[in-house]
Amino acid sequence: MRNMLFRLGIFLSILSLFLIKSESAVSSIDLGSEWLKVAVVNLKPGQSPITIAINEMSKRKSPALVAFQSETRLLGEEAAGIVARYPDKVFSNLRDMVGKPYQDVKRSADSMYLPFDIVEDSRGATRIRVSDDASYAVEELLGMILKYATNLAEFHSKVTVKDAVISVPPYFGQAERKGLLTAAELAGINVISLINEHSSAALQYGIDKDFSNGSRHVIFYDMGSSSTYAALVYYSVYTAKEFGKTVSVNQFQVKDVRWESELGGQNMELRLVEYFADEFNKQDGNGVDVRKYPKAMAKLKKQVKRTKEILSANTAAPISVESLHDDRDFRSTITREKFEELCGDLWDKSLIPVKELLKHSGLQADDIYAVELIGGATRVPKLQVKLQEYFGRKDLDKHLDADEAIVLGAALHAANLSDGIKLNRKLGMVDGSSYSFVVELDGPDLSKDGANRLLWVPRMKKLPSKIFKSFNHSKDFEVSLAYDHEDLLPPGLSSPVFAQYAVSGLTDAAEKYASRNLSSPIKTSVHFSLSRSGILSLDQAEAVIQISEWIEVPKRNLTVENTTSASPSVSVDVGTKNTSEETNNSLDSDGGISNAPNSSVGEPSMMDLGTERKLKKRTFKIPLKIVEKTVGPGMSLSKESFSDAKRKLEALDVKDAERRRTAELKNSLEEYIYATKEKLETSEDFEKISPIDERQSVIKKLDEVQEWLYTDGEDATATEFQEHLNLLKATADPIFFRFKELSARPAAVEVARQYLTELQQTIHGWETDKPWLPKDRVDELSVNADKFKTWLDEKEAQQKKTSEFSTPVFTSEEVFKKVLSLQDKAASIKRIPKPKPKVEKPVKNETETNSKNAENSYSTPENDNSQNDKPAGDSDSSTSEEVGLESSINEEVNVESEPHDEL
Ligand SMILES: *[C@@H]1O[C@H](CO)[C@@H](O)[C@H](O)[C@H]1NC(C)=O
Ligand SMILES: *[C@@H]1O[C@H](CO)[C@@H](O)[C@H](O)[C@H]1NC(C)=O
Ligand SMILES: *[C@@H]1O[C@H](CO)[C@@H](O)[C@H](O)[C@H]1NC(C)=O
Ligand SMILES: *[C@@H]1O[C@H](CO)[C@@H](O)[C@H](O)[C@H]1NC(C)=O
Ligand SMILES: *[C@@H]1O[C@H](CO)[C@@H](O)[C@H](O)[C@H]1NC(C)=O
Ligand SMILES: *[C@@H]1O[C@H](CO)[C@@H](O)[C@H](O)[C@H]1NC(C)=O
Ligand SMILES: *[C@@H]1O[C@H](CO)[C@@H](O)[C@H](O)[C@H]1NC(C)=O
Ligand SMILES: *[C@@H]1O[C@H](CO)[C@@H](O)[C@H](O)[C@H]1NC(C)=O
Repeated sequence: MRNMLFRLGIFLSILSLFLIKSESAVSSIDLGSEWLKVAVVNLKPGQSPITIAINEMSKRKSPALVAFQSETRLLGEEAAGIVARYPDKVFSNLRDMVGKPYQDVKRSADSMYLPFDIVEDSRGATRIRVSDDASYAVEELLGMILKYATNLAEFHSKVTVKDAVISVPPYFGQAERKGLLTAAELAGINVISLINEHSSAALQYGIDKDFSNGSRHVIFYDMGSSSTYAALVYYSVYTAKEFGKTVSVNQFQVKDVRWESELGGQNMELRLVEYFADEFNKQDGNGVDVRKYPKAMAKLKKQVKRTKEILSANTAAPISVESLHDDRDFRSTITREKFEELCGDLWDKSLIPVKELLKHSGLQADDIYAVELIGGATRVPKLQVKLQEYFGRKDLDKHLDADEAIVLGAALHAANLSDGIKLNRKLGMVDGSSYSFVVELDGPDLSKDGANRLLWVPRMKKLPSKIFKSFNHSKDFEVSLAYDHEDLLPPGLSSPVFAQYAVSGLTDAAEKYASRNLSSPIKTSVHFSLSRSGILSLDQAEAVIQISEWIEVPKRNLTVENTTSASPSVSVDVGTKNTSEETNNSLDSDGGISNAPNSSVGEPSMMDLGTERKLKKRTFKIPLKIVEKTVGPGMSLSKESFSDAKRKLEALDVKDAERRRTAELKNSLEEYIYATKEKLETSEDFEKISPIDERQSVIKKLDEVQEWLYTDGEDATATEFQEHLNLLKATADPIFFRFKELSARPAAVEVARQYLTELQQTIHGWETDKPWLPKDRVDELSVNADKFKTWLDEKEAQQKKTSEFSTPVFTSEEVFKKVLSLQDKAASIKRIPKPKPKVEKPVKNETETNSKNAENSYSTPENDNSQNDKPAGDSDSSTSEEVGLESSINEEVNVESEPHDEL
């Protein structure tokens, strides 16, 4: 008992130390059309650094769904729970709608029988109407899903998770990537980087391998629910110097990636849906088309998923839908053969990405070291057969977890990119842009014949990159960024231009300097970045103006200063870093004659020798103003819409939290009622401590509240549930307390009496073991022990005379407190060390008497008095026991440096 109590104390103090530390973790999110997966990087001893965050149903993947149902927003599993009843209120495939033109989203949603109310917004992008008077932009809905993902990460790791890497399919264009970043920002996530799905998988594949015995080409083939891609990745080793030693570093480079953005498991399911819809219509025979009924279609789609899964392992599969439509059940079967026939054209399409990879790389099927399959739909046998045939090999490679490779790889990337996390395995990654881009200029004096194409960024250009271009031009202009090939545009896009900027300030600057002697035409420099996330943007533009002017400078003594003035006629005044127009102006106004040369040429030995003319070359860099003018679905939300959205989302989060709190409190009230009634009604032990009428009155109260719960209380608020719970507890707690004390009290008394016996022996033992212990304090301890014993005897006697139906005379808690107090006192006495024999110490810069007192203070109690003139809290032990003990312990620690936690 004693040991346990102390351990508890130590445990509590350690716990509070941990709470003081502020920790945080980073996460990765694999956001798919139907599912999302979350991993957390969290360095804690004895724990794998990267783990999958499971959801509230303990699943490793969660439905990527949002639902709005009568004023309530539901996410993930909760949303999935109402699909069958409210298919038009549960929004799916949101990842595939972000940044896309409305028309394309609408077409695709219709083809999948998604029964939502999709509307076009002012940008030409998509909003989803969730009720008569509310609609949300796709970014907002995605933001909710990403917030749900972050909550899973935080719940899993128990620390704040703000930073994340989010994976995207390779064919995600600029608008999709930017839209996703906006969504993440709305969710309060700091996206360290987006990462291409294939690069995540390649990273996960390579992290535990060594390529020093041979480089290799690996193809990653991923068929998910809505899209398919294949990536060619080259693994090799390069040598580098590290701390003077040559080490070999594994790395991989993404060579190419090709896709079919509208081919996936969903397409196979759709074939089955169509087939069974026809069959149902035929079975029904009343000219009904089940396709017109969203609820029926939602039910059918759900069952078809299962049928498809069964077909992956069996040659035939049943389908059965209760009351599919108009109270009619639907039952049928399908063979794998029939399924493969229905999907006939899909099998050939599924090979297109790999064919393209080989064609463009010049590699043969035999040159490929491995074909790694990822994505749920690669489990379909026919697909595997097709790939095996194409690559001419008996087996494909399934070394990666088809579901989790991407999120785990993305977590590695997140760890690599965040400060403070060092992975013990190194793998270099070279990823490239999925698209090629062109940068075009438009404006006065720019030819319209294609010569205004300023820049070309090839496919697979390394991420991240900085790109800089400089050209002779002196009028304001516009820059447009576009995909290079009209035939290689992101899915659904019809115009190649994805960003436009107006660059101004150039015409003005040129006019300002027009009267000056320009030594070369005015140049304009533009700086682009291709970010790690694959986003190309114009970051900065400046005008570069060079002028040559004769200026008057004081003559200098050439015989002395001939080295510094070796090139006397040219001194370049590089107004580089941030020459603002203001500073230029000031140079202008004084004609650039006197002060500039003074400061740059002035020498201490200079004498007044008159002036001379020198030709001075100067360069001015003038920052130009950039205004983004992008229009269309790829346009980012306006500032107002963004802050508006942020507010709306936060309000929903608050409402959600309140809803959850209400549900929890209602639940605990219900549970309390059931549990309490059961105990009072079934356990006979309560008869010992409570009269029947007391118990019956409690049960009556419980019944009343239960009645209220199922009538008026059905939709009560969290506070009301809490109040009812408090009320019930106030009535029932005294009974339970007496019940608990009935056994706890005698147990505590027993522990106490046992301790008192032990203590007596201990004190007795000290006489021989520790004769130096101060007698007065040992005696005091004995007196306290005796007092406690007397107290126990008295209380026990009183309790015996008291009915168990009334409040106990004393409690187990009181007993334990008293034991603890005695233990503390005994411990502090026991710790008093044996005094050291007196040693002649070198004279310190304190008074000699003081230092002697300190040495003797424990052995001779008389000295306690002399300590009183010490300033620190060494108050007389008689005034306050606690403080007195404290201070004597502190002194020990100072003098002997003994550890505190000797016990
Ligand atoms: C490389 O190959 C040699 C000989 O084949 C083998 O002994 C060695 O263990 C291999 N090293 C690695 C890292 O695989
Ligand atoms: C990890 O970081 C290093 C250094 O920045 C970089 O060279 C390497 O490519 C990164 N690897 C991955 C997998 O992100
Ligand atoms: C810009 O002007 C300079 C000097 O006239 C000339 O040498 C250079 O070729 C020009 N650059 C371009 C891109 O026209
Ligand atoms: C203009 O600059 C050139 C050299 O670039 C120089 O030869 C010429 O004398 C300068 N003219 C004037 C008027 O400063
Ligand atoms: C230049 O400096 C030298 C050495 O200090 C001195 O002898 C000479 O007179 C100076 N010349 C003029 C023109 O001041
Ligand atoms: C600098 O002066 C020294 C002697 O005063 C002379 O030998 C040298 O040639 C001079 N150099 C130049 C560049 O005028
Ligand atoms: C120039 O740079 C300094 C420090 O780098 C900064 O304080 C100042 O604001 C900059 N001026 C302009 C005009 O950008
Ligand atoms: C003690 O203090 C005195 C002056 O206060 C000083 O002169 C002397 O050096 C000090 N001695 C030591 C051992 O610090």
